[in-house]
Amino acid sequence: MANDEDCGGNLKRQLGKLFEVSLRATVPDENVEPLIAACSGNFGDYQCNNAMGLWSKIKAKPNKTFRGPPAVGEAIKENLPPSNMIESCSVAGPGFINVVLSTKWIAENIQKMLIDGIDSLAPRLSLKRAVVDFSSPNIAKEMHVGHLRSTIIGDTLARMLEFSKVEVLRRNHVGDWGTQFGMLIEFLFEKFPKFEDVNESAIGDLQAFYKASKQRFDTDAEFKDRAQRAVVRLQGGETKYHQAWEQICELSRKEFDRVYQRLGVHLEEKGESFYNPFIPEVIGALRNKGLVEESEGAQVIRLEGFNIPLIVVKSDGGYNYASTDLTALWYRLNEEKAEWIIYVTDVGQQQHFDMFFKAAKLAGWLPSDNSTIYPKVSHVGFGLVLGEDGKRFRTRATEVVRLVDLLDEAKNRSKAALIERGKAAEWTEEELEQTAEAVGYGAVKYADLKNNRLTNYTFNFDQMLNDKGNTAVYLLYAHARICSIIRKSGKDIDDLKKTGELVLGHPDERVLGLHLLQFAETVEEACNNLLPNVLCEYLYNLSENFTKFYSNCQVVGSAEETSRLLLCEATAVVMRKCFFLLGIVPVYKI
Ligand code: ARG
Repeated sequence: MANDEDCGGNLKRQLGKLFEVSLRATVPDENVEPLIAACSGNFGDYQCNNAMGLWSKIKAKPNKTFRGPPAVGEAIKENLPPSNMIESCSVAGPGFINVVLSTKWIAENIQKMLIDGIDSLAPRLSLKRAVVDFSSPNIAKEMHVGHLRSTIIGDTLARMLEFSKVEVLRRNHVGDWGTQFGMLIEFLFEKFPKFEDVNESAIGDLQAFYKASKQRFDTDAEFKDRAQRAVVRLQGGETKYHQAWEQICELSRKEFDRVYQRLGVHLEEKGESFYNPFIPEVIGALRNKGLVEESEGAQVIRLEGFNIPLIVVKSDGGYNYASTDLTALWYRLNEEKAEWIIYVTDVGQQQHFDMFFKAAKLAGWLPSDNSTIYPKVSHVGFGLVLGEDGKRFRTRATEVVRLVDLLDEAKNRSKAALIERGKAAEWTEEELEQTAEAVGYGAVKYADLKNNRLTNYTFNFDQMLNDKGNTAVYLLYAHARICSIIRKSGKDIDDLKKTGELVLGHPDERVLGLHLLQFAETVEEACNNLLPNVLCEYLYNLSENFTKFYSNCQVVGSAEETSRLLLCEATAVVMRKCFFLLGIVPVYKI
């Protein structure tokens, strides 16, 4: 049953199916969805909460069969179809139906997962294709910690959806279009009259190049004039200008790719420029729907509930961020047939998203109810990264943090910690490097993901690299320790999976076992609510439950050795999948 076709490994849904049958038998005239929640009390593992709501629906009706919600609860309990999954049920208080799952069933399903693989527990979502628009830095400008957050959060969301069998288009919506390119191109021509001379080492720092050209633009009227004409020539498709633009984009791209490579993040670039040719047609369609009007020379869409209109064509006739985003949305819905389009940026951009989402609904591109029906759009906002001083994260007072430097430091610090623990003598240089990277980058990612994304978080190396508490280091070490328990037992775990039997005899084994099977519903919840912290919390609790089991139950050398080794292995497998979904590389030795 744990691999039920439409439920995946989701226990809540599997119980829901049983209760659905019972509800239909109990109140045939009412069309109610089963309300199932996990609970951690003494009375059960899950609870069905339909009785009270049902009672208020049926109490006024003539010929009612029940006298109060507890009676409704009793009837729902009685009508449950028989199932190996359930050990016992009881009705408590005003009609809560508590369900105790069968310990044997839990054990069997963990063992089944060990044989079929963790992917057999993957949740089922009711969509086929999604776009995750994330990272999305701007060409020639710095890629800052905000983009780092977007990259980390977006990658995790994409991984969780992919695990749930959704095809994900991982879109890097880079800012590669706009008036700033006129100035950059003119500056490039000035600096490098010979085009062949343009290359990374000659330009050096692209951000400094941007700054210098901006300064020239602001102070030299003749240059400004040339820059503005360059924009027109670029947009008109003149070869020389287009080539220069390509060159600048390519230099930026190389720098972005270095960060993505370190983080193990895969993205497909479809920048703003890609959508440019489609803008006139899309704005035209909106105009035909009567949505676009003229205001102070610009073309705008007025939206109820907002005190400013959405500008879709600027007064100089040019397009802007909103025109591009409306067009990209149109493209994703109609050309790419995406059902869920997810945008990951800082919360500061919330209004922009709210506004063009609303415009898309007015245009009839999206259903007006955005909660459950596809196609749908979601803005995944996140808070600021703060420094120790509580202000926006900077290295020095004014300087922005270079992401590559930040990742270097995380790695170097974790390497130093490993050396201090004597690993340099024990391991090869390669092992040391790989572990330092896994731990260092994992720590940066986990520190970002573990909090609710909307809250600001303080960037602190000492905290994130601490091997105690809720950190990636602690979790990675916990996993490595489990692997070493299995290694040291000298048993062939693949053999045990087939020949041994998993039994959850001790209460701490049962707690751990149930938690393992709750993996699927956790990922499903994290996906549906776009909240990676839900998965982090699950992983941390998993590790805590394991620790409790391990300190109270002897594994190697005990009478239950085989079963307990299987439980260790199942914990390691689930932990590794959590790491994978969070974009963290596991380590096997510490
Ligand atoms: N380039 C933008 C920035 O750096 C983020 C783009 C987000 N995606 C989008 N479709 N608007 O702020």
